[in-house]
Amino acid sequence: MKGKFLSLLSALVLGAAVTGCGDAISPGPAVDGPLIGFSQIETASSWRAAMVEDIEAEARRRGFELRVSDAQGRQEYQISGLRSFVAQGADLIVLTPTVESGWDEVLQEVKDAGIPVVLADRLVDVEDDSLYVTAVGSDFHEEGRLAAEWIAERTGGEARIIELRGSEGSTPALLRNAGFVEFLEDQPGMEIVASEPGYFNPSAAREALEELIENFGEDTFDAVYAHNDSMAMGAIEALRTAGMNPGRDILVVSIDGSRDALEAIVQGALNCSVESNPVIGAQLFDTIESILAGEDVPRRVVIESRVFDETNALEALPGRRY
Ligand code: AHR
Repeated sequence: MKGKFLSLLSALVLGAAVTGCGDAISPGPAVDGPLIGFSQIETASSWRAAMVEDIEAEARRRGFELRVSDAQGRQEYQISGLRSFVAQGADLIVLTPTVESGWDEVLQEVKDAGIPVVLADRLVDVEDDSLYVTAVGSDFHEEGRLAAEWIAERTGGEARIIELRGSEGSTPALLRNAGFVEFLEDQPGMEIVASEPGYFNPSAAREALEELIENFGEDTFDAVYAHNDSMAMGAIEALRTAGMNPGRDILVVSIDGSRDALEAIVQGALNCSVESNPVIGAQLFDTIESILAGEDVPRRVVIESRVFDETNALEALPGRRY
């Protein structure tokens, strides 16, 4: 496979160089299959750790050599990681972008090197759509719509909602907001009374909600919509600190369908979590194999989502992988 000879050497040389500017590339075990570079946003959160673990396991099962670059949440590290994969002679690059903008230049370099790019989980906003072949991931817009629909059904269409948004400029934050807001357009009794960033981070979400409660009081909202489960956990803490009863006085709805969320639903503190599944290794590598075999692939491969609430959370818990 292309760059095989150079790849071990460059992993040592360039891997070290990239680590020096904050990124970290794990070379993975030596395998004689195609070389796949996977640029991941970060690997500290359990959702992303599950995604990486599943992709690594699938690569091993199918005989691919996978190198994972952990950008520690920073786009500039992702960009240098992509350049490093080009220098290492990757056969294909998988990119999970932090934010949607700012990719045109580096993706053009990757394309000029003849390396196909597959987006995983999140999307990019580029002038030239041919800079990537396809995108494998959940439909974030639909997730937002499902969350709003659940609140509408539970409240009879009457709710004052606080929204806690994910990282600014990221696909899930943009589309989970858009899907939710669009559903509300036909719901005159439902309104977002406040919307604050929580950056997919439990502490940031807790602090944002604590501040809102302090400034506007307890009786100003009926539901919290958090763009992911981690932020919902922070929101639950904030509600408890304020002496409120999450899950009962105030509805709490979020996205991911993680094990923690399902447990919180069973305990009654969280009401609903729309699944956004990071276990995408099988669909990702089906797509990669087709591309490397020269076959046509669809522009979008959508991972299905389910809705969890008190009717099904308990039975779903044992099989949960994240
Ligand atoms: O891109 C997917 C989102 O990113 C997940 O919902 C979230 O948990 C992660 O930070």
